[in-house]
Amino acid sequence: MASSPDPSHDDTISSRISPSCPPDTQRVLTAAWAHDLAAVKKLLDTPGKASVQDPATGETPLHAAIRSCGAPSEEDDDPADLEAAKKVVYELLLWGAIWNDVDDRNETPGCVAQRLGRRELYNLCVEAGVRAEMLFGVMEGYEELESVDGEEEEEGEDIEVIDMDADADAEMVVVGEDGEEAPELVNVESSGQNGAAEEDEEEEAPRFQPPKDETEADVNSEAYLRSKLTYSDGKLVDDDGNGVMMAWETDIMRRSVDALLPGKEPGKRILNIGFGMGIIDTMFAETKPAKHHVIEAHPGVLEHISSPGSKFGSAWEESGPAPGDFKIYKGKWQEVCQQLLEEGQVYDAIYFDTFGEDYSQLRKFFTEFIPGLLDGEGRFGFFNGLGADRLICYDVYTKVAELHLTDAGLDVDWDVIDVDMSHLAEAGKGEWEGVKRRYWTLDSKFSPALYRLPTCTFLG
Ligand SMILES: C[S@@+](CC[C@H](N)C(=O)[O-])C[C@H]1O[C@@H](n2cnc3c(N)ncnc32)[C@H](O)[C@@H]1O
Repeated sequence: MASSPDPSHDDTISSRISPSCPPDTQRVLTAAWAHDLAAVKKLLDTPGKASVQDPATGETPLHAAIRSCGAPSEEDDDPADLEAAKKVVYELLLWGAIWNDVDDRNETPGCVAQRLGRRELYNLCVEAGVRAEMLFGVMEGYEELESVDGEEEEEGEDIEVIDMDADADAEMVVVGEDGEEAPELVNVESSGQNGAAEEDEEEEAPRFQPPKDETEADVNSEAYLRSKLTYSDGKLVDDDGNGVMMAWETDIMRRSVDALLPGKEPGKRILNIGFGMGIIDTMFAETKPAKHHVIEAHPGVLEHISSPGSKFGSAWEESGPAPGDFKIYKGKWQEVCQQLLEEGQVYDAIYFDTFGEDYSQLRKFFTEFIPGLLDGEGRFGFFNGLGADRLICYDVYTKVAELHLTDAGLDVDWDVIDVDMSHLAEAGKGEWEGVKRRYWTLDSKFSPALYRLPTCTFLG
């Protein structure tokens, strides 16, 4: 099999399937590695088998099926082998293989495909991620999910595959087309994001422990809103060293204002959620709006806003066309937006950029509040940093957000812009000096440091 183009990655079978790997797991991994579809099908006889992991390397059958393809090579590439690999990947996904399990190098199967330059296999992982996350969204709050043996399973059930990339030459596949009984697509259990069911036979076997990244930010909204913040040159950082807002995002903010207020005509009604460093609010203020409302919840940010020298203190509030037109609303948007709805406030442009909140909150905002707060002809944008420390997560979340936006009656236009990575490439250096974790690391063969800037309008 071909080897990785990156010498720091040993992608040989001997380095990935360890001698200590339990025989059952070894058999599935080896069959997946060899793209032996018949053997894989035979071995996938119980839930969880598709996502077994070598306890030493964290290799899953998906990793194995993708890794063994190696990097594309004009001399050695056998198209039949790629087709065989795709079939094995479909089969594994069909049986609940987990799209985002990481191995001992902190790579998901999609990360391996990306590193090797295997776009078609990468796209299959993205599609699987989108399906899993959509299902996860629906299942939220449910404790137990049906296993693959569940009663509601239907014979020959087709699984819709979403076209992630119209330009890619990846063949889209409908699994279950052979009329065989199709298992559920993903098997989510309460212990993990999309965790596989435990495998009885291997209960005693040592389980793979994913590598722990010491810099991994475990940010949550409550803790963040209690944290002490520090404004320094070009950044706003919490007391755990997490970058809340950074000056390198200025270009993204500028482009967002351009997209939300084309022509920048004065007299618009603007709502911004999350003041941060006031970068976007300064730009909004320059357009001479008729109404400019800002929602901010953090006491440290509010103190900064009302401190001497701030552009958005009481003098700014008093400078509005009428009382209340220029206003900082103090509190969480979850509560303030309810008040704005009750007041009947409507805006031409709404921007959403908070910190310490997960995707469910962004979704809540555009589903529950945008329909009431945005003018019929208005535009809505948000900082699109979801999953921006791993390309496959960024791709999955772009698509998931797009599907949920459509559900909420919104059309989204993605403006793809460059991010200058020259000062962002290394942890702890350049822009990241004094910041615990790089929250933007996207730079790859497929997407060289691209930011997808969303502009949403009402459908139809
Ligand atoms: C990334 S910063 C915004 C940066 C801003 N776009 C700029 O241009 O400087 C996020 C801001 O959202 C605020 N925030 C976080 N959670 C919030 C919530 N639930 N309600 C209101 N503001 C919140 C944070 O305190 C922080 O000031």
